Amino acid sequence: MALMRTGRKIKDLGITGPFTRWYDKNTREKRIGEMREYAAEAKRHLADNASVLEVAPGPGYFSIELAKMGNYTITGMDISADFVKICKANAKREKASVNFVQGNVSQMPFEDNAFDFIFCSAAFKNFKEPVKALAEMHRVLKKDGIALIVDMNHDVSKEMLEEAARAYSKPGFERWFMVMTFKGLCKGAYSKNELEEMIKQTPFSKNEIKESGIGFYIYLYKQ
Ligand SMILES: C[S@@+](CC[C@H](N)C(=O)[O-])C[C@H]1O[C@@H](n2cnc3c(N)ncnc32)[C@H](O)[C@@H]1O
Repeated sequence: MALMRTGRKIKDLGITGPFTRWYDKNTREKRIGEMREYAAEAKRHLADNASVLEVAPGPGYFSIELAKMGNYTITGMDISADFVKICKANAKREKASVNFVQGNVSQMPFEDNAFDFIFCSAAFKNFKEPVKALAEMHRVLKKDGIALIVDMNHDVSKEMLEEAARAYSKPGFERWFMVMTFKGLCKGAYSKNELEEMIKQTPFSKNEIKESGIGFYIYLYKQ
């Protein structure tokens, strides 16, 4: 039986330095549609004036797109000071009202029961303490609140990864680089079994894990 990998990172993989600027540009040019889709999915679960937390926003585009879609109080929290700076500049340029702060998902700088909805994409596999991250999400969610985590599926096929990489890259070096990156990221991602095992160790008593393309939509309900 494969060993469960539920806390295998040596440290939190916060992104810093020049790579943050590349990541920002790449997200704006190639993933903005994806961010709008995530925001539309979040909106389905939100009442007017809902309080929303984005964990690990990177350059912040989910929060910025959601801010344009309704009257919400939105906070974005990332461990990387470089990304927090980029988030603030992006929100200012887009005239979006989002409060971006620095913090670690393992110990979030928020009160208990503070948010109606939490969103986190492409970051859960990077967390050093994933079970603690889930427990923290439960702590800061209000009763009846929902956390939505979107991340890659460890068990996705090589063919699906290659197809997904094609959508983000031009043929040639860029395509090769994207395929290698996706394969590397997939190795570090969790399987459905591993996710279920981790969720069992937290106070979340209800969840749904939906497969979508090369990843999962993981809905966690605080009851
Ligand atoms: C691959 S990026 C994903 C960014 C964005 N959510 C997206 O979908 O493009 C992973 C993000 O997780 C952040 N991160 C990693 N470990 C973290 C932690 N322990 N707490 C908060 N943020 C963290 C990184 O700094 C980075 O911004």
